[in-house]
Amino acid sequence: MMMRSTIGAAIAAAVMVHAAAAPQTTPPAQTPATAPAGDVEKGKTLFTKNGCYQCHNYEGHGGAAGARLAPNPIPFRAFVTYVRAPKGDMPPYTAKVMSDQELADVYAFLRSRPRPPAVSSLPLLR
Ligand code: HEC
Repeated sequence: MMMRSTIGAAIAAAVMVHAAAAPQTTPPAQTPATAPAGDVEKGKTLFTKNGCYQCHNYEGHGGAAGARLAPNPIPFRAFVTYVRAPKGDMPPYTAKVMSDQELADVYAFLRSRPRPPAVSSLPLLR
């Protein structure tokens, strides 16, 4: 457990350093309102490779550190705007770190995730 959070912090720190060195982000107006076609498999890889899973979990269902993203992420333009300039504890990912197309892939991956089981499927709660 110790080990995991240490690695997470190191990756988050590395991402922040990288992001800080990058030039200004793309103005949100250039981002389409609806998500361009995304590749679910690429998105899945990026979600892991770029560390989103560290805070949002492998399935994007949220975790100790990050909000739930899947299977209904916020609208694509807001999604990109947020990732480029987060307001809270999340590190920023500039266009240099992740392109809009890569974010569209991640978006497609998040939308493809299964929903949590229905409450009615849990015998104890029936
Ligand atoms: C170091 C932890 C961390 C990492 C890494 C991280 N996030 Fe986050 N994210 C957060 C937290 C915490 C929030 C909740 C608001 C805040 O504090 O910024 C959040 C919020 C969000 C939101 C807004 C959700 C909403 O409903 O408003 C989006 C979208 C998002 N993250 C996407 C991503 C993507 C995509 C990646 C990878 C490219 C990523 N995050 C990586 C911690 C992280």
